[in-house]
Amino acid sequence: MRFIPALLLTGAMLLSGAGSAGAQEVVESLRGGAPITETSRLDAMFRPEKDQDLIPRNFQKQPPLIPHSIKGYNITQNFNKCMDCHSRERAEETGATKVAKSHYLDREDKKLSNISPRRYFCMQCHVPQFDAKPLVENTYKPAAKKGE
Ligand code: HEC
Ligand code: HEC
Repeated sequence: MRFIPALLLTGAMLLSGAGSAGAQEVVESLRGGAPITETSRLDAMFRPEKDQDLIPRNFQKQPPLIPHSIKGYNITQNFNKCMDCHSRERAEETGATKVAKSHYLDREDKKLSNISPRRYFCMQCHVPQFDAKPLVENTYKPAAKKGE
């Protein structure tokens, strides 16, 4: 009868007035209590940062964060604005980092002449840098590099 201690505990907490808030810290989402239809807070949340220095990557295979504004950089069926600067062909001229070689491979690791459909929607993996406070504490530390 394992559930009994839990029931007793809940009862005791209610009696002592501890309630759920005291027992467990509630994490408030970025939107807070605002209803999803209320956009004013969203505007503040998604305030794009100005172009800035790169935030260093935390581990080798991390998709790098985007260090520039992406306002108006649309991706449609026929045109990918990101690739307009980041493709192999355009990178030298635009000064953008070439997309990684992995972005030209299909799932069998076969080389493609154009961006792989698996990598077409850049924002699936790359997000702009934000000065956002973490909602919960994060104690992640990258593993030591080889030889360190
Ligand atoms: C007008 C040209 C241009 C467009 C369009 C553009 N970028 Fe960039 N991007 C750059 C340049 C230039 C840099 C290098 C900035 C630097 O090194 O400080 C860069 C850097 C980056 C980086 C960081 C790479 C690294 O070395 O860590 C990422 C990720 C990135 N862009 C993603 C994107 C995505 C996703 C889009 C589309 C939503 C996009 N970019 C559209 C010019 C562009
Ligand atoms: C499925 C996830 C995913 C998608 C989609 C994706 N990337 Fe990446 N990207 C990564 C990862 C992971 C890395 C770093 C590891 C690597 O090199 O593959 C990376 C690396 C990069 C780099 C840095 C390359 C370097 O040499 O340091 C650039 C620039 C970049 N991506 C741009 C883009 C652009 C532009 C698009 C859209 C056309 C895109 N990525 C789509 C996951 C993704």
